[in-house]
Parts: sequence; C-alpha cells; structure tokens
Amino acid sequence: MTSYFNGLVLTETAGRPTVAELRLPEVGPGQVRVKVRAAGVCHSDLSMVNGTIRPSFPLVLGHEAAGEVVEVGANVTRAAVGDHVVLNWQPACRTCWFCENDEPWLCSTSSGVASLENGVTLDGGPVHVALGLGAFADQVVAPENAVIRVPPALEFEVAALLSCGVLTGAGAVRNTAQVQPGQSVVVIGLGGVGLSVVAAARAAGASDVIAVDISEAKKGLAEAAGATDFVVSSDTLSKEIRGRTSGRGADHAFECVGRAATIRAAWRATRRGGQVTVVGMGSNDDQVQLSALDIFSSARILRSSVYGSADPDIEIPRLADDVLSGRLSLNHLITNRITLADVPDAFDRMSRGEGARSIVTI
Ligand code: APR
Ligand code: ZN
Repeated sequence: MTSYFNGLVLTETAGRPTVAELRLPEVGPGQVRVKVRAAGVCHSDLSMVNGTIRPSFPLVLGHEAAGEVVEVGANVTRAAVGDHVVLNWQPACRTCWFCENDEPWLCSTSSGVASLENGVTLDGGPVHVALGLGAFADQVVAPENAVIRVPPALEFEVAALLSCGVLTGAGAVRNTAQVQPGQSVVVIGLGGVGLSVVAAARAAGASDVIAVDISEAKKGLAEAAGATDFVVSSDTLSKEIRGRTSGRGADHAFECVGRAATIRAAWRATRRGGQVTVVGMGSNDDQVQLSALDIFSSARILRSSVYGSADPDIEIPRLADDVLSGRLSLNHLITNRITLADVPDAFDRMSRGEGARSIVTI
C-alpha cells in the first residue's frame, strides 16, 4: 500500500529545512511503519543542519521519537499494529563482533548519519533519512529492530525523550562512567542530554553535581534536574570547580556540548585519576589539545559515551518503568511543544542556548 506523508527535509548544509511530501511505495519485509506521535529536537539534528557533521542530501531530519505501529512488513515478529514504540537509531544486529561482545551500541551494521535504506522517496527520487530514521515526519519506516515496545500508559512526548537524550545522558552516568555514591560530578552543557546526566548523577548518589552552562538562564532547569550547584562557564572554570571540590577537582566530568574547548574544560575540572566522559558529538575539524606530560601525570581517564553505552532493548523499557513508577520525572525537560514547520525556529532557540527540549507533537 503506497502511503504519503510529510517530513522535514534539508537539502544543503546551512539551508533552512522545509516540510515536504514524501512517498513510501510499500513496507518491505522486516520493516515496520510507525505513525510518529512525538519527536524531540536534539542537538545532533542541529549539527546536521549547521555543518558540524556532514550528512548526505536530501535528508529527512529527526531521530528522537516515539509513535504507534500502523503497518508491519512480512516476517516481522517484534511489533504488531497498535503497539506503542520508541525508535532506536542504533538498532543492534545481534550477530556482528560488537553485538556478540555485549557492545550493541557500537553495532557495525549501523546505518550511519544518513541512510537510504528504507525506500522513502521525495519527488520520485531517493531521500536519505537521518540516523536511519528521519523522525521529523508524520511517519517513519524502519527495520523492526529499530522499534522498542513501551507501555501504552507512557505519554508519547516522554517516550520520545527516552529515545535519545535521556538514554544517552542516563547511560553515560550508569554504564560508561559508573558514578558511585558520594562522588562529585561536573556536567558541562545543560541541554536535554546534560540535564539527563545531572538527574542520573543525583539518582546514582553523587554528593555534588555541579552543573555548568554558558547560559545563566539554565540555572532553574539545572536545579529542577537535581544539581547541587550551578556555575556559568568561564575561563576560570577549573579554578571555580576546584574551589568547590576540596581543591582537588571533581571525580567525574561529563562534556555534553560537543566541542574541543569544553572537552578541555572537562579535563581540567577533574581531579588526578578522575574520569572525563565525552557525551557531546563534535566536529572532525575541532582538535583537542592536551600535553603528553599532562595526559601521563594526571592519570585521568578520558572516554566517550556513544548512546549511553546502553542496550536500548533493555534500558528503554527500564527507563519507561522508572517514569511510570514515579522514580524518574522528565516533564521539566519539555520546554516547547511545536509542529513540524516550527522545527527551524527550535534550532534557532537551541543555537542561542534557550530552553531544554522542543517536542514536535503530531
Ligand atoms: N560551555 C558550557 N555550556 C555550553 C557551551 C560552553 N562553551 N557552549 C554551549 N553550551 C551549552 C548550551 O548553552 C546548551 O545549554 O550546551 C548546551 C547544549 O544543549 P543542546 O543544544 O540542547 O544539546 P543536547 O541536545 O543536549 O546535546 C548535547 O550531546 O548528543 C550530543 O550531538 C549532541 O553534541 C550534542 C550534545
Ligand atoms: Zn539525539
């Protein structure tokens, strides 16, 4: 059955994305068609627009979403029509070396930033979909392993947040860094991802969670997420952090911006032997400078966290449970409810560091 739907399409770097009609000839074997009910605006979408990363064009943007299954192709076993699902931009094949070694977030069959695989067309020609999904659209067509069932009681808007920002932030704390009770934590960059790191660090029992942003306006959001301190980013940040951590620096720093300068700031904010977790996705052109002696003598650990080092098939249902049981509250993350056509304005707000998540509701 051919279906037509609207999607937000970007045709060039630094262009203004516009809503266009897309066509799907039919749902293929192993694929599912999902009616998108909510999609969050994540900085990785903005990075595809502003040239921080260079995807292929034309491109349907969007990857943080939840919706309802409306059609399934042949041989689909994981989902049925009517299921409420969260979309997963890093579906695991379960057979590659990484999957077999329990690192499904590094699955080597990943579709990459822009994929052509799902059969959707624009004006009769192929169109790429961001992170294998293209979720700023009324509908998404994806392989069945990219959908994760969640209880219908979970609101779609909250389910969408779990799909990228919250899983990424919570996973960075729990899985990648494994923050322990009583540890001190610095979080640099307080968007949807950084605020999720703040909340997860508090939930993990961190004694101090020092939230840092370039924008003073993030203070209230940081406090709502559970930060114990808020600091406006400056050249003297490491001094400021040492002053709040017995002169040593923090046990952990999380970089949630995606820039070399903030990775360096995170490095300098941690104590000797501390751990820096890079959560932000930066550009290939942005080089981090650290001296060889500093790397050796500071004994710090520097690592990155891709998709929260998580197996989303396990952790998204767990996070959904946490929300439904009241252990995890995410509503403060939603600062704007918008339509597809408003997403470019949401990118402008994000570039200015305003708000937390804008959510497209359909
Ligand atoms: N120092 C501190 N904070 C900064 C700085 C800086 N130099 N520059 C920007 N910020 C803040 C912004 O003010 C904003 O609050 O970083 C925050 C980034 O938030 P969002 O733009 O909402 O981004 P988010 O969706 O949270 O993603 C953060 O994680 O997944 C990656 O690609 C994503 O790199 C991005 C990062
Ligand atoms: Zn994202």
